[in-house]
Amino acid sequence: MADRAQIAVLISGSGSNLQAILDACTCKSIDADLCVVMSNRQDAFGLERAKKASVPTLVLDYSLYESREEYDSALIAALSEYQPDLVVLAGFMRILTPIFTDAFAGKLINIHPSLLPKYPGLHTHKRALEAGDSYQGATVHFVTHELDGGPPILQGRIKIADTDTADSLASRILTEVEHKIYPLAVQWLVQKRVEMRDDGAWMDGELLSGTGFQYIETETNK
Ligand code: GAR
Repeated sequence: MADRAQIAVLISGSGSNLQAILDACTCKSIDADLCVVMSNRQDAFGLERAKKASVPTLVLDYSLYESREEYDSALIAALSEYQPDLVVLAGFMRILTPIFTDAFAGKLINIHPSLLPKYPGLHTHKRALEAGDSYQGATVHFVTHELDGGPPILQGRIKIADTDTADSLASRILTEVEHKIYPLAVQWLVQKRVEMRDDGAWMDGELLSGTGFQYIETETNK
């Protein structure tokens, strides 16, 4: 068995969150290694990032499967070969069935670009702007059967500027929030400081609120 925890990352696109996690593993702010990066798309740029870091890659094309359940079963079989301690969804744009979420319950996390429970689903930044919100952010949460509805672990926010558009918010939230909170939350799971129980996410023996731990940048977690 590997000494360091093994992480599988699932992507569909650019993989900038994957890169933040890879960098954190390299500089040891995450005490783990990536065992595989899996994509549902052959053209996902994140696959190049994984190859550059010498992490094995895997592509599972949905069109080769009859149903979501069949696809998810194949995905479980493929990932199980790598025996991941943690499965990290980083911009993985496919809805997973209970077959998959149950197989990795408690060790499956996602990052969602909104202040959950606000705005599950798509177009989160546009929806925050249309609602006239003052803040927008991102949330790392455990994945359960409910889409973007599992217990939040860690949430970070920025103030929306008058000049912000959905695109500027997406890019600011990626760099100012997501790339900071995702590696930190992954490390908490690796350290077993955070766990999922029936009633929610627990950290250091305390039940976290329905929005998770609130991230505030300090000198030590910058
Ligand atoms: C990120 O903003 C992530 O929060 C979002 O996709 C982007 C992926 O960027 N995820 C979702 O919308 C999932 N519902 P990346 O490929 O550069 O990490």
